Amino acid sequence: MSRVTHLAEHRLWLLTTPATSYALRLDDEDRPRHVHWGARLTAEQAATVPPPVSRDAGSFQTGGPGGELEGPGFGPPSLDVRFADGGAGVEWRYRGHAIDGGDLAVRFADRHHPLEITLHYRVHDDTDVIERWTVLRHTGDGDSRDPVGLLRWDSAAWTLPPLPAPRLSHVAGGWAAETLLRREALPYGETVLTSRRGTTGHQANPWVMLDGGQATEEHGEVWSAALAWSGSWRITVHRPAFDAVGLTGGSGHDGLSWRLAPGETWRSPVFAGVYGAAGFGGISRQWHSYALRHVLPHPDELRPVVYDSWEATGFDVDLAGQLRLVERAAALGAELYVLDDGWFGARRSQRAGLGDWRVARDRFPGGLDPLIEAVRARGMRFGLWVEPEMVNPDSDLYRERPDWVLHLPNRRRTTLRDQLVLDFARPEVAGWAYDWLDRLLTGHRIDFLKWDFNRPLTEVGRPGHDDPGRLWTDHVRSVYAVIDRLRAAHPHLRIETCAGGGGRVDFGILARTDEAWASDNTDAVDRIGIQHGYGQVYPARTMAAWVTDSPNPLTGRAVPLRFRFHVAMSGVLGLGGDLTRWSAAELAEAAGLVALYKEVRPAVQHGALHRLTRADAPVTAVQYVLGDAAGAADEVVVLAWRVTARFGHTAAPLRLAALDPGAVYRDTGTGAAHHGAVLLAHGLPLDLPPGDHASGLTRLVRLPAGAPHGPPSPVPGGRVGTSEA
Ligand code: DGJ
Repeated sequence: MSRVTHLAEHRLWLLTTPATSYALRLDDEDRPRHVHWGARLTAEQAATVPPPVSRDAGSFQTGGPGGELEGPGFGPPSLDVRFADGGAGVEWRYRGHAIDGGDLAVRFADRHHPLEITLHYRVHDDTDVIERWTVLRHTGDGDSRDPVGLLRWDSAAWTLPPLPAPRLSHVAGGWAAETLLRREALPYGETVLTSRRGTTGHQANPWVMLDGGQATEEHGEVWSAALAWSGSWRITVHRPAFDAVGLTGGSGHDGLSWRLAPGETWRSPVFAGVYGAAGFGGISRQWHSYALRHVLPHPDELRPVVYDSWEATGFDVDLAGQLRLVERAAALGAELYVLDDGWFGARRSQRAGLGDWRVARDRFPGGLDPLIEAVRARGMRFGLWVEPEMVNPDSDLYRERPDWVLHLPNRRRTTLRDQLVLDFARPEVAGWAYDWLDRLLTGHRIDFLKWDFNRPLTEVGRPGHDDPGRLWTDHVRSVYAVIDRLRAAHPHLRIETCAGGGGRVDFGILARTDEAWASDNTDAVDRIGIQHGYGQVYPARTMAAWVTDSPNPLTGRAVPLRFRFHVAMSGVLGLGGDLTRWSAAELAEAAGLVALYKEVRPAVQHGALHRLTRADAPVTAVQYVLGDAAGAADEVVVLAWRVTARFGHTAAPLRLAALDPGAVYRDTGTGAAHHGAVLLAHGLPLDLPPGDHASGLTRLVRLPAGAPHGPPSPVPGGRVGTSEA
């Protein structure tokens, strides 16, 4: 049972999750101090944890680590405020707390200024993830009309115990190369991970993992935090020379400020944290199950196999061309057909038409319905591409409403991808967007929107607006509100978050969407690394991955169809190529692989991910385990990919994870039986086809105890690479 305990005599609160504890206390000056984040402790035990050692080295050493809200002493501040009288800094007085089930709220007020802060903590019974956020309130009345300037307003600061050799894991990349995992020694000083782009960003993603330098994929202590926010963000990890590592994170980037008005309340996004002792893989599985249990709106659903027209047609869409693709997509087993960019206004290239959300009658003379009906007649659902936050200068919308874009007086309006960003925080803009989207969804049988966002924010302002700094936040909130309203009005609607690939993937947007387009890079070899990083925090259930044409349009690399499929099958399989150019043999092979994916999909999308190797290993392999009600591994899917063959480097058997050692598993492809204990200790023999770009998939199901089976297979048996498809 997760719970919150208050030890009044120690002024200490203890949060208990299924396997971990978190504790904080008030010091003599009412400052909330971090006490513990790690393995389970009782309240009595937590009360004996000594405060951080004061090394008594004089005034220069004051302010050690351990703040819950002000950051580690003289380290990076979590909260930075300016009062009307020029005052800065806060002196909190404790004002009380409230416990409600797994929720704890601890309230403070500044000793002098009209500012209140409430630190929120939430624990659940089914996850070790602890959610934290902060609420600020300007308590000024008639006498204090002055706003409080906010320069930094983090959601939470987390403190770690002393670590032998602190190491930081995070992702860094760019467009078409998102979420590349970096694991490196944490330097002394401050390491800032950030997006200044007004969106989550391709270059970084708002999460970190920290360990003491010894954790492995399946063993060792790891601490991790992830921010649920889709705008600019900043996470600062602080490694002082002598004190504990801490981190602070929240929305907004450096240099931004805004004013909290008298009477105003501001709630930060959630900056959740999780501790575990089962290595990086254990932490990933914690995040995945948290996403499935507490973030995604429809976690129980299986995501359908999508066909998306983008890589086949670019902007060159019309009814006849789409119908040809519909035929092929349906024959392959696609379940959702998405008409991508180019269906509206004068949108024949990226240069024009964005913002004019009227069906282009020259390309779809009867409107969208003939296409939708054809799609539905072939048993597929219909989805549509939209980019509601953007406008091309060459559009009727911009000609009519040039003031609707974000812009600053006396500054140029920077176009990127030939487009400007609409000022979504303006109620009339959000209202306009909601209305056309609602009309579209009401007037047509549309099941799915691919919600795209193809440039960062610049010149964030609105002439006449006296506090433009808040527009960075308000834009995101307004997008969230429009999506939430649409979902409420159209409960059948499912949404994919996309931002030129994986530029807007985070727990904030995933709370209101159903899957994410992880990257515009569909090259299967590159995707192995991108997906490896994506899956560190976000579950396969959200990771859309298409099989497209070969050679790949972006990289020029030729990769066999089967390899492309096996890589995409480790997420939400989709199809994205020009199917009219696929040969009969390719179409037949693809149809078989789509059918196979549907069989393994429950394990891939809802099972527990075990990364069996590094992403850059000679053979990369992942395993998905679907448990029965009692948690025993019932079904196992293993995908293995070898990019480059090397003479003399035979692939070792893959030691599997998390199986029931006493059970016998049957390979559904070959019928071979394997003892769980042997698969754990010696591995599944790999029998990949020769040459580069070799891959395989094996599905194992647990036989009921005592069920007859042939002699358990010695090596070679059910072999990855030959057992299925
Ligand atoms: C960027 C997306 O990532 C692509 O999949 C495609 O939808 C294009 N935008 C369309 O403009």
